[in-house]
Amino acid sequence: MKAIAYSKCLPVTDTDALQDMDMPDPGAPAGRDLLIEVRAVSVNPVDAKQRAKADPKGARILGFDGAGVVRAAGPDAALFQPGDAVFWAGAINRPGSNAELQLVDERVVGRMPQSLTFAEAAAMPLTTITAWEGLFDRLRIARDPTPTGEAVLIVGGAGGVGSIAIQLARKLTGMTVITTASRPETRDWCLDLGAHHVIDHREDMAAQVKALRLRVSRIFSTTSTAANWAMLCAMLAPQGMICAIDEGSAVDMSLLRAKSAGFHWEGMFARTLFQTPDMVEQHRLLTEAAALLDAGTLRTTLTRHLGPITAENLRAGHALVEGGSMIGKAVAEGWV
Ligand SMILES: NC(=O)c1ccc[n+]([C@@H]2O[C@H](COP(=O)([O-])OP(=O)(O)OC[C@H]3O[C@@H](n4cnc5c(N)ncnc54)[C@H](OP(=O)(O)O)[C@@H]3O)[C@@H](O)[C@H]2O)c1
Repeated sequence: MKAIAYSKCLPVTDTDALQDMDMPDPGAPAGRDLLIEVRAVSVNPVDAKQRAKADPKGARILGFDGAGVVRAAGPDAALFQPGDAVFWAGAINRPGSNAELQLVDERVVGRMPQSLTFAEAAAMPLTTITAWEGLFDRLRIARDPTPTGEAVLIVGGAGGVGSIAIQLARKLTGMTVITTASRPETRDWCLDLGAHHVIDHREDMAAQVKALRLRVSRIFSTTSTAANWAMLCAMLAPQGMICAIDEGSAVDMSLLRAKSAGFHWEGMFARTLFQTPDMVEQHRLLTEAAALLDAGTLRTTLTRHLGPITAENLRAGHALVEGGSMIGKAVAEGWV
């Protein structure tokens, strides 16, 4: 099969940072695996971060978002059949979606939204799982649109995760949604996705939040958590909760003590990495998100079509996420 892989850790400017390869097919699916024909993939910051790590096993296929069609189902698979259109993020410790064929555990695969193209669907899984688990499982925000009188601050609103987190918080909860953006185009994007208020993270965030006179009882921090930590703790309402998703240096938990406030990591690969008994929750949430996308409650965050799935085009995608100014998601689609 055709695959895009890396075998050496090289800067994204090097034409060999990702390479077009001919690799063996993954073989027949076992257990609850599905063998999926990949039609479209998106690029996430995790792709670039993993590319910087040498793999002792040799050439490694990245790609943690995909949309495609099930070719075969393992003997224990019960959720999907050959021919089903699906979307998924997969697992960090298995070969990724940057290949014509991929094996994925059906418990982390969702039915693809019928109203979306493969490219529009491939933009969604990893960020939707992250935002969904972050807002509902970790921050325990109620799935009830009745106004609560409280606010959630989403740091990094225009990024891949922020772009779906804004929509989930606005459409499925009763929280006022505050987010951050530092450019006119990212500010407009966040407002268009449903944010009630946009503040500039390059200015004094605490002063801007204070001026809104809202009770910020939840903070979903997608970026720069360690740098913002003292300010986030100061802005948080007593008994509130912060959830962060970015890797970072140590933060001072004692800043939360007087407020009896909490902190939670969200790691969307935790369920697959540790094979938790509730792995199937990712299938359920993706399938529910698909219904919300089909109903028009949510919309795709696809903003950039990179062209066919080639090393050159995926390298352009890696360069975009490494640049740190991505709006929504970049997707590659089809094979040449
Ligand atoms: N734990 C997990 O499961 C998980 C899952 C997904 C992602 N992540 C991590 O979460 C982070 C964000 O991922 P992503 O895909 O959303 O990123 P992304 O799409 O690359 O985010 C780009 C956006 O970040 C904003 N930004 C840049 N610097 C900022 C800052 N200092 N403060 C606030 N916003 C800033 C920019 O907006 P402006 O131009 O307006 O400044 C830009 O639009 C990455 O580190 C990623 O690896 C973790």
